[in-house]
Amino acid sequence: MLRFLDRIGRAAPQPLHHALKMSGQMPLLWLGYRRRQQSRTSSQKKSPPDSPNPLRTYFDAVRDGPGILKWLHYFEVYDRHFRKFRGQEVNILEIGVYSGGSLAMWRDYFGPKCRVYGVDIDQRCKKFENESVKVFIGDQGDREFWKRFKAEVPTIDILIDDGGHQTYQQIVTFEEMLSHLQPGGVFLCEDLTGEFSGFVSYLNGFVHKLNTYRLKAAREDHERYLTSQASELQSHVRAVTFYPFIAVVEKRERPLTELVAQKHGTLWGW
Ligand SMILES: C[S@@+](CC[C@H](N)C(=O)[O-])C[C@H]1O[C@@H](n2cnc3c(N)ncnc32)[C@H](O)[C@@H]1O
Repeated sequence: MLRFLDRIGRAAPQPLHHALKMSGQMPLLWLGYRRRQQSRTSSQKKSPPDSPNPLRTYFDAVRDGPGILKWLHYFEVYDRHFRKFRGQEVNILEIGVYSGGSLAMWRDYFGPKCRVYGVDIDQRCKKFENESVKVFIGDQGDREFWKRFKAEVPTIDILIDDGGHQTYQQIVTFEEMLSHLQPGGVFLCEDLTGEFSGFVSYLNGFVHKLNTYRLKAAREDHERYLTSQASELQSHVRAVTFYPFIAVVEKRERPLTELVAQKHGTLWGW
């Protein structure tokens, strides 16, 4: 996996080049999208209000004590990807401890069985350690630091990168830690603010590889009409999802060996 990630990393300038070419067409695409949205919203029924988001409720209630700094639209993204881990024996790592408030928020959200790890470059963050929170002091851009971390923490289910926000730090963290995430695990990198973030370009190269197509011979068998042997990446990565300022990479619960297209029905053609 690491060798693979290394190759993808080197390929990153190519998607950036395409993205830059595409950006010339963006105003037209955006105009068309906006027109369609405007005609839709006038005829749409009102949807019911969203159910309360426990993380947002917790955040709104914090008025004093250890500080938390989060964009409000992150709470929906967190809850969408992290909900399945609530109440479980989940190991969560947040890079970027700052004032310690977010570590307490994760503990509250995931429940008493969770184990929270924090990483920060600032020694002063050590004081936020307690019986369910362990804080490591180190530089997320340093591969040697991650080797020591992995030797001490064998299992991680969720990684939230809210640390230094430099592209090289985000890439090193991703490359060192993706293979350390458990099956079904979630990697979330936040604060990807500004167009053409270097880490988003890197992930675009990664996403292209999610579409690798290794067609095995097409068969008469409609149950296995087309089959493509899964690459190492396809076998372990379920999805890469982008939100404003956030990228999420989800791992599969079980490795995939092949991608299959079936034919159902008896009438074909027009
Ligand atoms: C935006 S703050 C984290 C906010 C916190 N997660 C919250 O939600 O309230 C960023 C933190 O990253 C830490 N940091 C900066 N560079 C780092 C690096 N190279 N490795 C690890 N942590 C780093 C800073 O010391 C700071 O505490």
